[in-house]
Amino acid sequence: MKKYLIALMMVLLPVSVQAATGSVHLDAIEVDLENNASLQRGMGTFVDRCMGCHSADYQRFERAANDLDIPNELVEEYLLMGGQKIGEQMKIAMDKGDAANWFGNPPPDLSLEARLRGPEWIYTYLRSFYKDESRPWGVNNVVFKDVGMPNVLEDLQGLQVNHCTAQESAHGASGEIDPLTNTRMSSCLTVEKAGSQSVEEFDRTVYDLTNFLVYMGEPYRLESERLGTKVLIFLFIFFLFAFALKKEYWKDVH
Ligand code: HEC
Repeated sequence: MKKYLIALMMVLLPVSVQAATGSVHLDAIEVDLENNASLQRGMGTFVDRCMGCHSADYQRFERAANDLDIPNELVEEYLLMGGQKIGEQMKIAMDKGDAANWFGNPPPDLSLEARLRGPEWIYTYLRSFYKDESRPWGVNNVVFKDVGMPNVLEDLQGLQVNHCTAQESAHGASGEIDPLTNTRMSSCLTVEKAGSQSVEEFDRTVYDLTNFLVYMGEPYRLESERLGTKVLIFLFIFFLFAFALKKEYWKDVH
């Protein structure tokens, strides 16, 4: 019995491995792979803002377009760059060696990033850049100390400052948003120079982006969830027939 219980627990453990994040508090996020509008916006942001440096080698444009119900013409018009074909993987032109020279570390492929770090980590990371003049890009990050990536979403988010010491700033970017001042209360990070989006809008942008990264890590999950429902309906109908047949067979025995 104990053996079965242990086996059951192993099955129920979540698939994505949470990377060690020290003592930094990560903000909660509930991903929703059924929300096509969010995934579509996330894909737009990803191609627009992230694929300058990061590839997604395990994902093809066409597959994503089909899964997320984006018409192929729109992908061709807005998402493909310089001679890319819709059937191709989401590769980029940047050379890994050059990138390592420019940034210290090369920007990793992000196809499986959400499985590696978990959605909470990504959601918090992308919202936790803050001003730090001592760093090459003028920013540091609460979740990823001394990160080699610039804050590529700064024009949307604005420039944040960090009021806390290293120990205290283990808060991520959480805290209630005050609608009057458009700042996050009881948070170490506040926007010093506003960007084009409000704090709430920016949370949504990063939510959509994180949602898309989770989808990319498990593109078959959408399909299997939809298939799962069909299989259950089939099993239910099959059960009715099997039960009727059983009754028919045993009718003469009793
Ligand atoms: C200008 C180039 C550049 C752009 C554009 C860029 N990144 Fe990065 N990114 C980097 C570099 C360089 C690193 C590696 C940082 C390091 O290891 O210090 C990185 C690291 C990361 C990591 C952490 C990887 C890990 O697990 O170690 C994530 C997540 C990430 N980027 C997400 C994004 C997303 C999402 C976007 C689009 C909004 C984006 N990046 C746009 C350069 C870029």
